[in-house]
Amino acid sequence: MCSKSFFFRLLSLSFVFLVPVLSIAQTVTIPIETKHNAIVLKVENGKDVQMVYYGKRLNNSNDYSSIPSKFNTIRDYSGMLNSAFTPSGTRNLFEPAISVVHADGNLSLDLKYVSHNVETYSPNIKLTKIILKDPVYDFSVTLCYQAFLEFDVIKQWSIIEHSEKKPVVLNKFASANLYLNGKIFWLKQFQGDWASEMKPEETLLTHGIKTLDSKLGTRTNLFQPPVFMISMDYPANEESGSVLFGALEWSGNFRFDLEVDPLNNLRIIAGMNNYASAYTLKPKTKFTTPAFISVFSSNGVGEGSRKLHDWARKHQILDGEGSRLTLLNNWEATNFNFNEEKLVELFSQTKKLGVDLFLLDDGWFANKYPRNNDNAGLGDWQVNTAKLPRGVSWLIEEAHKAGVKFGIWIEPEMVNPKSELYEKHPDWVIKQPNRDEYYFRNQLVLDLSNPKVQDFVYESIDGLLSKNPDLAYIKWDCNAVIYNAHSPYLENKSHLYIDYVKGLYSVLDKIRNKYPTIPMMLCSGGGGRVDYGALKYFTEYWPSDNTDPLDRIFIQWEYSYFYPAIASSNHVTDWGNQTIKFRTDVAMMGKLGFDIVVNNLNSNDLLYCQNAIKAYNEVKNTIWHGDQYRLVNPHKNDLASLVYVNKEKSEGIMFSFLVSNRYGAETISPIRLSGLDVTKKYKVEEICLMPGQSSLIDANVTYSGDYLMNIGFNPIVNGARKSVVLKLTEVKK
Ligand code: GLA
Repeated sequence: MCSKSFFFRLLSLSFVFLVPVLSIAQTVTIPIETKHNAIVLKVENGKDVQMVYYGKRLNNSNDYSSIPSKFNTIRDYSGMLNSAFTPSGTRNLFEPAISVVHADGNLSLDLKYVSHNVETYSPNIKLTKIILKDPVYDFSVTLCYQAFLEFDVIKQWSIIEHSEKKPVVLNKFASANLYLNGKIFWLKQFQGDWASEMKPEETLLTHGIKTLDSKLGTRTNLFQPPVFMISMDYPANEESGSVLFGALEWSGNFRFDLEVDPLNNLRIIAGMNNYASAYTLKPKTKFTTPAFISVFSSNGVGEGSRKLHDWARKHQILDGEGSRLTLLNNWEATNFNFNEEKLVELFSQTKKLGVDLFLLDDGWFANKYPRNNDNAGLGDWQVNTAKLPRGVSWLIEEAHKAGVKFGIWIEPEMVNPKSELYEKHPDWVIKQPNRDEYYFRNQLVLDLSNPKVQDFVYESIDGLLSKNPDLAYIKWDCNAVIYNAHSPYLENKSHLYIDYVKGLYSVLDKIRNKYPTIPMMLCSGGGGRVDYGALKYFTEYWPSDNTDPLDRIFIQWEYSYFYPAIASSNHVTDWGNQTIKFRTDVAMMGKLGFDIVVNNLNSNDLLYCQNAIKAYNEVKNTIWHGDQYRLVNPHKNDLASLVYVNKEKSEGIMFSFLVSNRYGAETISPIRLSGLDVTKKYKVEEICLMPGQSSLIDANVTYSGDYLMNIGFNPIVNGARKSVVLKLTEVKK
């Protein structure tokens, strides 16, 4: 650290000496500050806008002007390595943020500073806009930096426009172009597939470009989610290290280019994927990119996550600061095989269990090609009269009679070739006109770039909700990727990937205008669509179809770096061979639900679930709205442990699980807690015990927060106690 700041000082001194007085007078420094951090941009005599800093905020903002515009002036031949938005076709030699073909066919672009201004929306939200213009072409880009001060979150996007005589083609159109000065960068990325989402990988970035991207069109996170972390110097851990979190607010193809340049600094270019997506922009129209979200923490990944969670609950996830419904889903329990009688029975099981809502999954619709398996019916959103002759409204009434709410599954963006919709509107389907169809789960994707298709999708949802105003919940699924990407509707075929998502968002905007509060779960064959773009419209997401609790511990752990527990729908199912207690406890670390045949539970297991739901209802506010501290990482230990602490620090809920079957795997030493108040005293009591189980924890002893965070507490996790839930309650003298 010491040698680094010395190095910077040396450079700034040399800068003062080397740069003529005239250019210093023309320097514009643009700091974008949050409570603890700052991005600093600089404009000098050449009017190039450069990013000179992203890190801890300085006490005296006048100091920002002393940051040199280049950390190595000698070997940046182009002077563009740290461009705030790197154009291509002029001096640039590296990965561009933007690349265009002008109306006259010319490929060059240069972007010079024109002006900037700061709009203050509230004491905690400021938007800095910087206008850049090409000196030769009538082409401009506005860089937008929205700072959420209290959470240290910065959103960045760009607005591209021109007044050339004819349309311009955009070949690349990033949302953000960041430049991190450093020596060594560690990338944490995530990889996966169906039922194995969010597998982490951490690697040292070497020179050249590492690209994280998706080209799937829909269900774009099947193999890779649009999130990553960059640690500086060494891989950050929960409590120490400098780390930048990045996420794109976009449900379509994305692309992150991470380029370690010849000066050993990191260029980050993030945005929609430009793959097969050249975009033709008419004169005097705006092309606005989705926002790239970043948060920087100099105190490890734990702090970074908590900042993101707080921000997301307040500003991004629909009703993030509100409440959620516990539920019983029937997918694992019945699959497509149900009828009215079976469902009415499930309503009473829902009540018996003690959850709020029954969620009817796939299989309730389509008549000509009934949805009795996954190869027919998608698109025909009429109730299947053979299975459910009295319709959805009758089911809702029956659910109410049983004392529970009713919700329903829908997959409105999709169509099975065996459907009336496909027969009537083959031109609404994404497919190549002259080639064989190729299916993902026997289905195809509707062309949401077409306004008529948007209306159809909207009406499918609106029809359900307006006919059934008491419908209390929607699970919105999206199971297929886009193969044979071709829109019969669009004139510019390469607009499909982008216009699909814009079409989807315009449908969701319309739905949310009319139905602002109905809870909706974002599902995509598991976690195929978990991103902050979609979460503006959804109250929760489905992390994975894999509900084996042992796998779920890892999956939920990794999602928790980026998304708060309130948004994570966790269901207890029959996957895996863990006890009902283990399964339920794992699902409690988020929004609890069930997908089991309640009547198959033995009386002890049923009683356990009923009591656990009661206990959950008492502590759920701390899990949903509190601060999460990951205590013991299951990737590196025989157990996983984490704690949620409410904002008043008067209650904590600690979950600990054994994740290894090896001999001797147990908690041999205390686990140090986090997030408590050192000055407070806490009672530690074990909750969620099996009927008849006596706890090994003495609830009569009190401990100071100081003790619990420095000495720790042993939850006594071992082969006989694989799952332990502890409740910490402040004891006032
Ligand atoms: C997807 C979802 C499941 C379930 C099925 C129904 O796979 O992830 O939860 O809803 O579809 O077909």
